[in-house]
Amino acid sequence: MIAVFPGSFDPITKGHEDLIRRSSDIFDEVIVGVLNNNKKNALLHSSDRKKLIEQSVKDLKNVRVMVFDGLLVDFMRANNAKVIVRGIRNTTDLEYEMPLDYGNKALYADVETIYLLTNPIYSYISSSVVKELISYGADISKFVPEAVYNYFKNINRT
Ligand code: PNS
Repeated sequence: MIAVFPGSFDPITKGHEDLIRRSSDIFDEVIVGVLNNNKKNALLHSSDRKKLIEQSVKDLKNVRVMVFDGLLVDFMRANNAKVIVRGIRNTTDLEYEMPLDYGNKALYADVETIYLLTNPIYSYISSSVVKELISYGADISKFVPEAVYNYFKNINRT
């Protein structure tokens, strides 16, 4: 069974990494779908977001990372995938997810979204908080995989 774990990943956090690892144990193949969304003010270009995810989970042989544009359901169809995986940290996340779930199902009836509860040790982490910390030059090592930490450490040096 192929599952898609979609998101902005701007940048990938330790919470995302944990969800990808858990998904890779459950499904035959996991495609991490990086949304290339021009409307969102992204900190990182989608190709860099993709690279950082690949480096963070390079040991997982059944995980592929792909950038996608447009509707998630079209990306699902193109990759012959019917399962979406999303992480839930709290009830705010659940409320955000519900219209997406109903919308995706209305557009593609075969699709099913599976929710994994975020590991509680990562439940306070979000890409938005990471971006804010980066803007203040704070230490993000507790929040992000090593590849992301090194990426920003090197950028700050130049
Ligand atoms: O990491 P995010 O930003 O919470 O991920 C949101 C994402 C990428 C899963 C969602 O915005 C999405 O699927 N966007 C693609 C466009 C789409 O299909 N929208 C309609 C949903 S009903």
